Amino acid sequence: MKIGVPRERKTLEKRVAITPDGAQDLVRRGHGVLIETRAGEGAAFSDEEYRSAGAKIVDSLEAVWTQSEMVVKVKEPHELEYQYFRPGLFLFDYLHLASMPEVAKALVDGGVTGIAYELVMDKQGRLPLLEPMSEIAGKLSVLNGSFYLLSQNQGRGVLLSGAVGVPRAQVTIVGAGISGRAACEIAFGMGAHVSIFDINTQKLEHLRAEFGNQITTAFSTPAALGRALETTDLLIGAVLVPGAAAPKVISREMISRMPNGSVFVDISIDQGGCAETSRPTSLDEPTYLENGVVHYGVCNMPAQTARTSTMALTNATLPYIVRLAEKGPIEAMKNDAVIRGALNTHKGKLTNAKVSEAVGIDYSPIDEVL
Ligand SMILES: NC(=O)c1ccc[n+]([C@@H]2O[C@H](COP(=O)([O-])OP(=O)(O)OC[C@H]3O[C@@H](n4cnc5c(N)ncnc54)[C@H](O)[C@@H]3O)[C@@H](O)[C@H]2O)c1
Repeated sequence: MKIGVPRERKTLEKRVAITPDGAQDLVRRGHGVLIETRAGEGAAFSDEEYRSAGAKIVDSLEAVWTQSEMVVKVKEPHELEYQYFRPGLFLFDYLHLASMPEVAKALVDGGVTGIAYELVMDKQGRLPLLEPMSEIAGKLSVLNGSFYLLSQNQGRGVLLSGAVGVPRAQVTIVGAGISGRAACEIAFGMGAHVSIFDINTQKLEHLRAEFGNQITTAFSTPAALGRALETTDLLIGAVLVPGAAAPKVISREMISRMPNGSVFVDISIDQGGCAETSRPTSLDEPTYLENGVVHYGVCNMPAQTARTSTMALTNATLPYIVRLAEKGPIEAMKNDAVIRGALNTHKGKLTNAKVSEAVGIDYSPIDEVL
């Protein structure tokens, strides 16, 4: 199969969908790999490394899209790429269509078969292609948050660890899944006091077992969360209902109870954000002030560590790219429930009920369109 990898077009998105090692593995299995020139530059992978791995370097976005049977990307397609959509083309990447109605419409109108990384769910109920980026975004949420807490960055001038004779900062995390756990690890490691909220007590139990009673775990109710926010320096939103728009668990009223100059990093922003005050921002203008709270809403946080993220992403996606390429995507979807569950669009139809609810495009069950 001919597999194409374009250079990412989202603002400051420096990741690339595959490492040279990943490309070499696909070539070794008999597939053709087309890489747009300079696609790996932002992650410090040169065209020469891809060439040595057996990939073909092509000189334009158009060449990648028109010469490939399956395009593999990191982020959702950029509007520049819509013109290359056609029936029979397979696209495998993070789609997050519940918060991107215009991308959903373009894929449906173009007849593209769109398979979403973030909806690949294995038999244990885990999301193996979302996990590595969630782990990285969770870790970065504390680094980014602590940066915006600095006095010169509109923050309230608080050091997470505190100092001798000065209390440590309060970090509150909503969502105790992959990104919430990773945020907890870093915030705890940096010496902050961490409180973590979820509605799934099993998740809280795991964190309690891992970090002991040095962190606070709490069942998430609006009342308990609202009280906690009154003394929170750094709030991290890390909730997810797979496929659906993020639940708005944090109201504007709760945000208004946070101290002036406190910081809110909403990792869930790629699914629409988990607060009434959330809106997407970009890496070149990551923050805005709302009710005196610095809001950070970047949808591609792992792009900041492009090399680490590209390697982690390839480790996770490669086995699935191989499955799609070996069997052919249609056969893979017919026979492989894990891949079928991640199908979002096919033959001009939208095949995910939660996405359909979020974007207002009619839903067609997968079995009817395959
Ligand atoms: N912004 C970025 O750059 C970036 C990068 C990677 C992942 N993400 C996003 O981060 C979000 C979290 O991903 P994850 O992998 O950590 O998810 P996860 O499934 O591992 O964890 C989500 C947690 O949210 C909890 N939850 C669900 N509804 C809740 C509610 N109403 N109140 C409290 N808790 C609730 C779940 O019980 C679960 O523990 C997703 O939207 C994901 O796409 C964003």
